[in-house]
Order: sequence, then structure tokens, then C-alpha cells
Amino acid sequence: MAEKKLGEYFSEEKGKMYYPSSSFVDNARIKDDSLYREAEKDRLAFWSKMADNLQWTKKWSRILDDDNPPYYKWFIEGKLNVSENCLDLHINNGLGDKNALIFEGENGDSTSLTYNELLKEVCKFSNALTELGVVKGDAVTIWMPMIPEAVITMLACTRIGAMHSVVFGGFSPEALKDRIMDSKSKVVVTADGAYRRGKVIPMRSAAEEALDDCPSVEKVVIVERTGTAYEPRKGRDLLWSELIKDTAETCEPVVMDSEDPLFILYSSGTTGKPKGILHTTGGYLVGVKSSFYYVFDHHEDDIYWCTADIGWITGHSYIVYGPLSNGSSTFIYEGTPDYPARDRFWELIEKYRVTVFYTAPTAIRSFMRWGEQYVDKRDLSSLRLLGSVGEPINPEAWIWYYEQIGKEKCPIVDTWWQTETGMIILTPLPGVTPLKPGSVTRPFPGVEVDVVDDNGQSTDPGQKGFLVIKSPWPAMLRTLYEDPERFEQTYWQQYPGLYFTGDGAWKDHDGCFWIMGRVDDVLNISGHRIGTMEVESALVEHPSATEAAVIGKAHEIKGHSITAFVTLKEGIEGSDELVQELKNHVTKKIGAIARPEEIFFTYELPKTRSGKIMRRLLRDIAEQRDLGDVTTLMDPQVIASIKEGYSEKE
Ligand code: PRX
Repeated sequence: MAEKKLGEYFSEEKGKMYYPSSSFVDNARIKDDSLYREAEKDRLAFWSKMADNLQWTKKWSRILDDDNPPYYKWFIEGKLNVSENCLDLHINNGLGDKNALIFEGENGDSTSLTYNELLKEVCKFSNALTELGVVKGDAVTIWMPMIPEAVITMLACTRIGAMHSVVFGGFSPEALKDRIMDSKSKVVVTADGAYRRGKVIPMRSAAEEALDDCPSVEKVVIVERTGTAYEPRKGRDLLWSELIKDTAETCEPVVMDSEDPLFILYSSGTTGKPKGILHTTGGYLVGVKSSFYYVFDHHEDDIYWCTADIGWITGHSYIVYGPLSNGSSTFIYEGTPDYPARDRFWELIEKYRVTVFYTAPTAIRSFMRWGEQYVDKRDLSSLRLLGSVGEPINPEAWIWYYEQIGKEKCPIVDTWWQTETGMIILTPLPGVTPLKPGSVTRPFPGVEVDVVDDNGQSTDPGQKGFLVIKSPWPAMLRTLYEDPERFEQTYWQQYPGLYFTGDGAWKDHDGCFWIMGRVDDVLNISGHRIGTMEVESALVEHPSATEAAVIGKAHEIKGHSITAFVTLKEGIEGSDELVQELKNHVTKKIGAIARPEEIFFTYELPKTRSGKIMRRLLRDIAEQRDLGDVTTLMDPQVIASIKEGYSEKE
């Protein structure tokens, strides 16, 4: 792989364009610009037409209520149920025997559930949740491996009108605790353990302390996945298998208002406290159903595989709700791509004849590094479309993906979106849009996006600026859970009337968008969002540390990796043991994804005269760039000493 840093690819327009093959276009749902033109002509009429593809118990009276920005509402007075749209609707249309969910475990065990079977399981667990006292509006926390019960729990929540809050299984029990406390969940659904690279990771026993410390939690439901032992808490802990043994196989879906909350998903921001991003029912489903259909060019016989974890928004929108609301067959895999061998993903594509494959650039860069020999021994001829999400994809990785995985016949949809947007916002339509490796191309029809300068003015082609969304879209977040002030301040105060994404970007002369990455103190590590403040707060909670500054350093595989600079308490000496201890401390507080790759001790952090930590300088040191102007620093000596310490370590 070339030595270049990721950002450098986006500095100029260049490179070849890639067009979909005529055979792809012939079979594509959308072959020309008509959808864009239709949406441009009348945006709201376009969304209303998309909403007509859902099953509503009562039709909406108004498409968009924009009377009280930024509190937008969609499909006013419309009534529907999400699980009904994802299950019953297709069964009524004759798809009951079609596979809805196909699962393979890390050990090679495999299950599939047809729409009929999935509905039955969802109903049984919906009834179980109701018996546990969960009612409309309650929150249920899900902390689980990638197993069918996770999807069943999400759908069961939607069936009875409860909000789910899925917490990524890789987050630590402490992070789980914060999220349970914030959502005040009554019920937590987890597993005894998870399989990870041949090992068993305990979950229920690991969560012991978190669960004991959360006063809202009345019941804990445990799926027996690995047989891992734990100390059951009498009266609180219940086994999934016991619970569903005698519950009824049908459950009437609760009629929900279009604007009733559907789920909370916590995501990192610029403070130490994660944000509870709240999505509602009607608009979210319209957004994910229509975007899934057009972006992934939905075909009835597709076997669709998105490799994300359901703990992230990608898992919510494009493993569960997008595919299932379209009646697709969605495949989930429990394990990692390198276990038991580095061809595992390709083996699964061959085995299940996967047709559409959606993954992240970090994974693609790892595959590239492992080499083509793992790809070549498998038959990938079933693939017809590829997707990328979560972080900028460098053109080298794009081209490798196109040539080695797609065998030069599969278009790649590089999709830009966020937990907040709920749905894909910038993306090619695979049968229509010419592709430029590294560009996310155009806004999805019905969505208005721009790049603006500091004053909120639209930038010229080639000029870098801030990515904004100019008008409301159906799947947008509605607020931050119980924190409307932070909602307004984070997204709407930067540029009045515009949604601020937190990303830097530029447009080229063709109107294609190029994403440069976050402009705030949020890091993108392997496509996952981690706030610098979250890691800093975890570090300073350690008894040895007084202050910490965290930066993202360009990393060949992960996009960025975490480097931390830490000042220690008087009398404490930095040592390799302390570095390990601090790294372990962050893993314990947040989870392995936030574990710093490197930690440096310094007697002081570089600060401006007003006391703000100058992370830019730390980044420059870590990436060995010229430091430029340091005259605004309170103590320029600090930099010299950090630099010295850094080069000693290198
Ligand atoms: O910086 C952008 C990056 O991921 C951020 C959103 O993170 P999250 O809410 O965790 O959702 C990730 C999956 C949708 C964005 O602000 N990002 C996402 N997709 C892309 C991307 N950056 C470049 N290209 C993308 N395709």
C-alpha cells in the first residue's frame, strides 16, 4: 500500500470514473435520473410517495410539520407499527416462507428464520416483555452478541411500542451502565457469553456490577449462547428459553403514532457524556425503507449482508429495518473476518451466495493487507453490488475492493451518513451514478446537502468547508434523549436553519461530494465514533493522572488510532507498566475500541493563553509534521519537551 496519508487523497480532483455495466443497468431498479428529477420538482411529494410504500393503520394528514424548527415532525397523525411493516406485511403478500434472517455463528452453526418463523419468535418475545411489565414508551437495553435473538428483541420492542437502546457488545460494562442509567431501562436483554476468535467472552457475569448499580432495572433476560457460568440474581434474572416457553405465538402490534419514539442509540460527541440520539417511528421507517430499496437496488432474490454490528446505527438501519421492511433476506454473522482463517468472509459469501455486501473501509484495508490469496480460493461470483460506510475510503482501497472482491462487475456504493441522520444521505444510485473512487457522489433524492464556509455561505467547487444538510429529512434524529439543549447546540446553532454534521467536505465541478472527516473533537476509529473527551475523562479518572489530551493519529488500517498525552500527579513517575495500566483502565471504562494505541507522559499539556488544549500541535507531533506557529502557547517550552519525549519513544 502507498505511504500516503488518507486526507491527501481528497486534496484534488483526479482519477478515473467507473460506470455500471450494461447488464447491471438492465436489471437495476433505477436506470436514469428520473428519481432525482422527481424529488427536485417537489421534495415533499417525493417523500409522500415513499411513505405510501409503508403500511399505515391511519394515513398521515400532513407530510412535514416545520412550524417549530429544529423540532421537525413527519407524517403527522399517521399511525403504524414497525414490526408489522417488517414482518406481517410481507407474510400477507405471500412471502411467509421466504428467509428473513440467516445467521451463521462463529463456530459454523447456522440457522435461518423465514418471515413466518421470525414473526412467531418476535410475537413470543413481545408477549414475554409484556408479561415482564414493559409497556409502550418504556426503554429496553440490549447488550448482546450478533445472534438472532438480538434482532428478535429489537423487533419485539417495536411490536409493543417500547424503545430499544442497543449497546454495542464490545462496550465495557461501565459504558453499559451509563447507558442503562441514562435511558432508565426496566429490562435488559443480554447473553451468558459471546464467541470471539475461538474464545468465550463472558457477558452476563461481566455485567454483574453494572446491573446491580442500576436502580431502574427490574428484570434481566439472558440468552444461553455459550453456557458460560454466572451467579443468577433471584427474582431479577430470567432465561430467554424459559420465558418464551409458554407465551402465545401471536401478538397484536401496538398502533404507534408516526412521531412516537422508536429507539435511542448512544453515540459519542464532544463531551465525555455520550448522546442519546432519538429516532421516531414513521419518518425513520420511510427513510430507511426507501434508501435501502434504491441504494442497494433491492431484488427479491438478494442475499444481503451488512457486516456491521447491530450495536451501531448501520446495524439498525441496514441489517434490521431497511432490509426487513423491504422483505429482503438479511444475513448476520457472529464472528470476526479472521477467524478461524482470513478467508472467513469470502467463505460465507460463497456458502450463502451473498449478492449484496456492505462493509467498512477499515475491513477492506485489512483484507488488502492480508492479500488476494484468501479471496482467490473462494467463489465470489454471486456478488452483484458492494457498499462502503463509516469513514472515508481511500482510492487504493476502493479500487482493490472493486477489482478483487467485485471482479470489476459490481458497482460500489460509498454511503455517507450518521447515527443522527438515521438513513443514507450521500450515495451513488448504483444503476445511475458514475463512480469516482473516494467520493460519496450525490445526495439521496429528496435530501438537500451543501458545503459551507465559516459564514454559512455555499462554497465553490474545490473549496473545503463544512458539510451541512439544508432541509429536514424523514429519518432525522428528533432530539437528544432528555437533553434538547444539547440537541440544539450541537446541530443547529452553528449555522441557523442548517443541520451541522460535524464533517469537513468539498464538492467538485460535477457536484460530487468528497468527505474529509470530522472537524470536531470526535475521532473515527475503524469507522466508529469515539469522543476525545470520553477517553480523556476515562484517563483522568485513574488515580495517577491529572490531565490528558487525546488525538487521532493517521493509521494505515483503522483510519485513525488513539494517541494520548497524560500529565501525572506530583511524585508519580511514568513507566511502561503505568502505560499498560492506563490503557487497561480506558478499556475497562469504555471498551477495547477506545484503547489508546500509544500513551506519552508530559509535565504539561500545550495550551493557549486562555487555557485551551492545542490538540492540533499534538497531532502534528504525533504525525511528525512541522509545528508552524506556536507563539500563542502559554509555555512554548512544553512543546519542545513533548517532542523530545515523543521522539525518544519512536
Ligand atoms: O465522519 C463521518 C463518518 O462517520 C461519521 C458518522 O459516524 P456514526 O454516527 O458512527 O455512523 C457511522 C455509520 C453511518 C460521519 O460524521 N462517515 C460515515 N460514512 C462515511 C463517513 N465518512 C466518509 N465516508 C463515508 N461513507
